[in-house]
Amino acid sequence: MIGKSRLFSRSLCILAIVGICTMAVGTVSVIGDNRTKEGKALKPRVVADLFHAVVSANRAVYSQVVVNRLMLHDKVIKASEHFLEEKALPLPAQMFRLGAELAAEKNRKVFYSLHSYWPLNKLNAPGSEMEKNGLAFVTVKDQNFYGEEVIDGIKYFIAVYPDRATDQSCVQCHNNHKDSPRRNFRLGEVMGGVVIRIPFGE
Ligand code: HEC
Repeated sequence: MIGKSRLFSRSLCILAIVGICTMAVGTVSVIGDNRTKEGKALKPRVVADLFHAVVSANRAVYSQVVVNRLMLHDKVIKASEHFLEEKALPLPAQMFRLGAELAAEKNRKVFYSLHSYWPLNKLNAPGSEMEKNGLAFVTVKDQNFYGEEVIDGIKYFIAVYPDRATDQSCVQCHNNHKDSPRRNFRLGEVMGGVVIRIPFGE
C-alpha cells in the first residue's frame, strides 16, 4: 500500500515537472547557459523573473484548466489536501511544492518554494534570515524583493514575489483551515510569497 502511494506520488511529481519543463522550453536554455550572443551573462534578477513567470503560469493553468474546470464547472472530480486517501486532485499549492521538490532533487541549481508567515503547512514557514526579510517586505509593500545570501558556502541570489489572494476561494480555504495561524485574510491581500534562489558568483 505504501509502495503504491509512493509510486502515485512519484508519478504526480513527474507530471508536475513535465508540465514545468513544457512551459519552460524557452527559459531552460537561459538557465543552463546564461550568456547572450555577445557573451554577456544575464543578470540573476532577470533569470529569477523569467523563472517566476514560468512557475506562476504553470500554477495558474493547473488551477484554472484542471482544478476549477473539473471540480467547479464539470463537477467530475474534486481537489483535496488529502488527495491520495480521497483519490482526488492535489491542490495547486501541493502541486507547486511537489514540482519544486522534484526540481530541487534533480537539478540542485535553482530552487523555488511557496512560503508564508501564516502557513497551513509548517514546511512553508520562512527559513533563512533573508527569506524572512523578503517575505516581510513583500507582505507589507506588495512589491518584489531581491537580495543575496550565503548558504553552506554557496552564494545565492534570492528573489521573493508577493502571492496575493486573487479570488475568494484562497481567503475562504485559508481562513477556515484547521491548521491556519490566521483567520482574517481578505481578497487581494498578500498571503505569502514565491521564493526563488539561484547560485551565482564563485
Ligand atoms: C482548498 C483550499 C485552498 C485553496 C482554495 C487555496 N489554498 Fe493555499 N494552501 C492550501 C494548503 C493545504 C496549503 C499547504 C500546501 C502544502 O502542503 O505545501 C496551501 C499553501 C499556500 C501557501 C504557502 C504557505 C502555506 O499556507 O502553507 C500560500 C502562500 C498559499 N497557499 C496561497 C494561496 C492563494 C494565493 C490561493 C488562491 C489563489 C490559495 N492559496 C488557495 C489550501 C488552499
